[in-house]
Amino acid sequence: MEEFVTLTYNGSEIKLPVVIGTEGEKAIDITNLRSETGFITLDPGYANTGSCTSAITFMDGEKGILRYRGIPVEQLAENATFKETAYLLIHGRLPNRDELTQFSIMLNDNSLVHTDMKAFYQNFPRASHPMGILSSMVNAMRSFYPILENESEKEEITLTMTRLLAKVRTMAAMSYKISRGHELVLPRPDLTYCENFLNMMFETPVKPYEINRAAVNALRVFWILHADHEQNCSTSAVRVVGSARVNLYAAISSGISALWGPLHGGANQAVIEMLTEIQEDGGNFNKYIEKAKDKKDPFRMMGFGHRVYKTYDPRAKIMKKMCDELLESMNIKDPLLDIAKELEEVATKDPYFVDHNLYPNIDFYSGIVLRAIGIPTNMFTVMFAIGRLPGWIAQWKESMDDPKWKICRPRQVYTGNTAFDFVPIHARR
Ligand code: CMC
Repeated sequence: MEEFVTLTYNGSEIKLPVVIGTEGEKAIDITNLRSETGFITLDPGYANTGSCTSAITFMDGEKGILRYRGIPVEQLAENATFKETAYLLIHGRLPNRDELTQFSIMLNDNSLVHTDMKAFYQNFPRASHPMGILSSMVNAMRSFYPILENESEKEEITLTMTRLLAKVRTMAAMSYKISRGHELVLPRPDLTYCENFLNMMFETPVKPYEINRAAVNALRVFWILHADHEQNCSTSAVRVVGSARVNLYAAISSGISALWGPLHGGANQAVIEMLTEIQEDGGNFNKYIEKAKDKKDPFRMMGFGHRVYKTYDPRAKIMKKMCDELLESMNIKDPLLDIAKELEEVATKDPYFVDHNLYPNIDFYSGIVLRAIGIPTNMFTVMFAIGRLPGWIAQWKESMDDPKWKICRPRQVYTGNTAFDFVPIHARR
């Protein structure tokens, strides 16, 4: 039976339908609010606003639950490959053997990057941040891979999605090699998605890269944990920009730009910088806890807090465990891990952090994992972007398939000057 809420204003009433999701989440459908009452809603940061219905990812911030297409992320981290997870997110179900083989062939066939794109890389100033470069390169892909007239729209979309998944990984490794002044290493058909990335990053003509099982596994889990997170800032950017019906490359490029921010994906780099600063400051983490609590100090405890999770981020739990296992199997002693654990121990007992529901999020331990694998700090957010790519693509595809999806165009409450007449320059004060 359809449910409604009733809004009363100035003696008149309007009935607004209630929408209930498959996990019992409730929303008030305000589609007709403005046309029937003249009102809009005001919700800074969209904290109470559902921008869409979606069947991709479910998260419960109070219970610390995250599922992709219904499957708990813990099970995927334990059993799935990143490729299977990408397929699951984009197509809505796990691939069977034939589908996975077909998908692997397509990824392999599309993994090379147009050689002319190399010149782009070489002309960026050396100090450029890899996220800025990646965002520009992905946008530029449209020029290198224009629409193929003979393909159907469905084939074209499949090809574009595959190109992104296959080439962004190659492009990320390319940017690292070029930043070091090294020869590029091309993808190999005999390696898995994760192995290939590590090989393209670390193989050199004088030192062949030996596949390290623990590093490959850590990268697999890292990418699976980042693969989607419903309507976060970068995903919303992809959906909003995509709603103008731009091409997929441009929409993904905007997602990469949004992810760059330190309050979002850039937090993984910011956490390592913060932990390093604490280390250089004699390991005095209590000072930083106090700074984070001081409202006059703009400092925030990076890797702590989340808009949706009001408990421990389930991804952070897996990441922390993996971090311990990885460092042990690679025989690495990282002093930043000790600082991170001490910081967590004290912070999670501190009344400010408890009252504000501030727990470690995925970025708190992920940087230490990436450091152990050998990824340079300024590439951390690029690693997040490669992982988030299947989610962005799946969310873009879902919005394009949604008959109700319109161009995103929020309203505002204007608070500026009321009308006044133009003043000629000679009469201005
Ligand atoms: N350190 C200190 N205080 C904090 C922190 C923090 N990391 N995060 C939130 N607070 C306080 C904030 O000062 C405010 O206090 P009060 O109500 O007393 O004024 C309260 O908690 C609510 O903060 P908010 O900024 O309104 O919360 P939000 O939901 O808008 O922001 C957040 C969420 C993730 C941006 C924020 O927690 C933050 O800045 N965290 C640090 C950056 C970070 O780790 N980002 C990665 C997020 S997970 C990866 C991803 O998916 O993007």
